[in-house]
Amino acid sequence: MAVYPKPAEGSWTEHYPHVGTGVVSYEDCISPAFYEIEREAVFKRAWLNVGRVDEIARNGSYFTKEIEVAKTSIIVARDMRGQVRAFHNICRHRGNKLVWNDFPRKETRGSCRAFACKYHGWRYGLDGACIFVQQESEFFDLDKADYGLVPVHCQSLHDFLGPMITALDGYPFERMTERYEFRADIGCNWKVFADAFQEYYHVPMLHPQQATPATRERTQSLGFEAPYYQIDGPHRMVSTSGPPRRVWPADYQYPIEIATRSGLFGPWNEPDLGERLPGVNPGKVDKWAMSNFQIFPNLEILIWETGWYLIYRFWPTSPNTHRFEGTLFFVPSETASDRAARECAVVMFKEFALQDAGTLVGTQQALESRAVRDDFPLCDQELLVRHLHKCVGDWVEDYRRSPAKV
Ligand code: FES
Ligand SMILES: [Fe+2]
Repeated sequence: MAVYPKPAEGSWTEHYPHVGTGVVSYEDCISPAFYEIEREAVFKRAWLNVGRVDEIARNGSYFTKEIEVAKTSIIVARDMRGQVRAFHNICRHRGNKLVWNDFPRKETRGSCRAFACKYHGWRYGLDGACIFVQQESEFFDLDKADYGLVPVHCQSLHDFLGPMITALDGYPFERMTERYEFRADIGCNWKVFADAFQEYYHVPMLHPQQATPATRERTQSLGFEAPYYQIDGPHRMVSTSGPPRRVWPADYQYPIEIATRSGLFGPWNEPDLGERLPGVNPGKVDKWAMSNFQIFPNLEILIWETGWYLIYRFWPTSPNTHRFEGTLFFVPSETASDRAARECAVVMFKEFALQDAGTLVGTQQALESRAVRDDFPLCDQELLVRHLHKCVGDWVEDYRRSPAKV
């Protein structure tokens, strides 16, 4: 018996008939052949979010990003005129990796006026122009103007998203500059992990600490239901509802939550962000708590009613591994207790993410047995899981038909 009203079609899934209601295959998470085509069809063709513009706020600042699935490393820089640019991280002379510090495979960030290659000393401006060639006269008809860095398409996220996401325009992302970032190498396909963050059907079972011992049994038998789902092109979202954790009975809380006035759903001392933007709660959910926007292919933005947000990025590193990035953003702390509250929220977030990670390594292993092949049934609360796999499958099919199209 549904707690929240369903669309007129009878379910959220049937509201989006192109997604279908049949059983699904997880071959796309275990097949090395699928992984190889997925990297061409999806990760070399889709827009990928690598950071926030305020990470390179000043002219001359830069960071590098390793994108193993696209077999490249990129440099994102703000040039001396303030323009944000991106380049493949490769020297035009003889292919050395241009920007790195102690370890070539490690990402780095900093600021400078020019990038100097560690091999023979060629230099490049932050606009990508080659500005210095060591012993230039030794070369044969070499014109530096022909040897700038190889550019990568780069623009701010806004320009290629549909109306569901652009309705977030006006959300004060720029005020939330206190950030906490985590990375973990996870032993499962990136979609297996993404799936766990786009359905909450698993929450009563996998994260039982979200209910008190006294109510756990009831919560587990009732299950979890989200009040609103929406799909817009390849992107999707889900909202949850419920009272903020600060008003939950004390026996629902860890002692540290009470001590720091913070926890899994964020600090209890909420910043004043002004009037709420309608786009964060497109379903006009009563007692709205959080909306999770999943931007194709590998980015999620979770916006909380309590005045903060976090993002996840899933970077494939092989058919059955990926690198998980989780970053939490808050308005800057003004007091020591603000800071303690944020750190508690971060630690709680990590604990719950690890509960998913630990389980999903086992999921990957079991899927790879192929003891069950193509008939996994998904419920209405798993609509977004279906949608991600369908979108990836559609992109792969499209690529198979016309591989050159970008
Ligand atoms: S490879 Fe960069 S200067 Fe030679
Ligand atoms: Fe989870």
